[in-house]
Amino acid sequence: MKTERRIPGWKDKVLFTPGPLSTSRTVKQAMQRDLGSRDFEFVSVVQSIRDRLLDLAGARPGDYEAVPMQGSGTFSVESVFSSCVPFDGKVLIIVNGAYGQRMAKMCQVLRIDTEVLEYPEDVLPDLKEVERTLKQMEGVITHVAIVHCETTTGIINPIQKVGMLCKAVNARYIVDAMSSFGAVPLNVGAAHIDYLISSANKCIEGVPGFGFVIARHEALLETQGCARSLSLNLLDQWKGLESNGQFRFTPPTHVLLAFHQALLELEAEGGVEGRAARYYKNYQTLVNGMRAMGFKEYLKPELQGYVITSFLYPEHPKWSFEEFYKRLNDRDQVIYPGKVSNADCFRIGNIGRLCEADVKGLLAAIREVMDEMGLALGA
Ligand SMILES: Cc1ncc(COP(=O)(O)O)c(C=O)c1O
Repeated sequence: MKTERRIPGWKDKVLFTPGPLSTSRTVKQAMQRDLGSRDFEFVSVVQSIRDRLLDLAGARPGDYEAVPMQGSGTFSVESVFSSCVPFDGKVLIIVNGAYGQRMAKMCQVLRIDTEVLEYPEDVLPDLKEVERTLKQMEGVITHVAIVHCETTTGIINPIQKVGMLCKAVNARYIVDAMSSFGAVPLNVGAAHIDYLISSANKCIEGVPGFGFVIARHEALLETQGCARSLSLNLLDQWKGLESNGQFRFTPPTHVLLAFHQALLELEAEGGVEGRAARYYKNYQTLVNGMRAMGFKEYLKPELQGYVITSFLYPEHPKWSFEEFYKRLNDRDQVIYPGKVSNADCFRIGNIGRLCEADVKGLLAAIREVMDEMGLALGA
């Protein structure tokens, strides 16, 4: 066998994105082990992950189940729609961004009947309209779905209030908390959530490779016979894990080891509250610095969460996002293109293993790039 060589030019980029995110050295180191998927140690790591996830969601053991699912976050969202909504079910989808739209598209592909309430990307859903729709279609709408932090813009939707409306009409409640779980306080029971979905590589600061669903025990048990997919069958995935602690199909072993380490680091940081405080500081530093350079946010500050921020393209003849992005990337600073449909924006994430000093480093790089590009924004 040839001697192994280190990959040349191995250097971390600083990721100001919605994920994959910057991770700690110790999270990456936790992946440097080969364990078999049936290994006793691996099985106990998976159990510990599941227990810790319930704890993080404020779930009472017995009331909820944590079910990891291979694939990116979208696979976990799809596992809920494809295997937890009955064939004669109807889902009310509340949309104010691309990830809400993706849920509607998913239901269309799966031939699940939907009612879609769509709002502009910079506006919160109209709760009166949601309530009216649920009352008018009581007994017809079986499930309601919404995104917690719409990563398109960074807006935070009123999860708890929508949960109360669902409870009033006995509809099951699905929340895509992909980019908020672990950093925005949320109690699944108090918010009446039946299925909360997130993934390894967001605010828990693991690496990509699986998502997970925190499902109400009683809701999950009702889903026998609802699956439209073998591999994404959430109930079977849970049954498999309960029976022998193992995944039904090959698990991303290294990713799960890293995730376990990430959960320990989250706990050491003070849990959700501690992480929220760091991200909030990142957000404040970012927005103040960007405003000082003349950039403007897309959302009104009162709607803006601290996970990710969309900035409007500056109106300047020399502005080019591609050029701006490339020059920052050359300095190992990675930002993200926009996703808003009615305005030209770019996004900067505040999450991942980043602290105020990293944000200041990004701001300094942005200032240099603006000078190079001749972009005086008049701030
Ligand atoms: C709110 C939300 N939902 C779903 C997804 C999709 O996750 P993935 O890209 O891991 O499939 C994302 C990704 O950023 C997201 O932010």
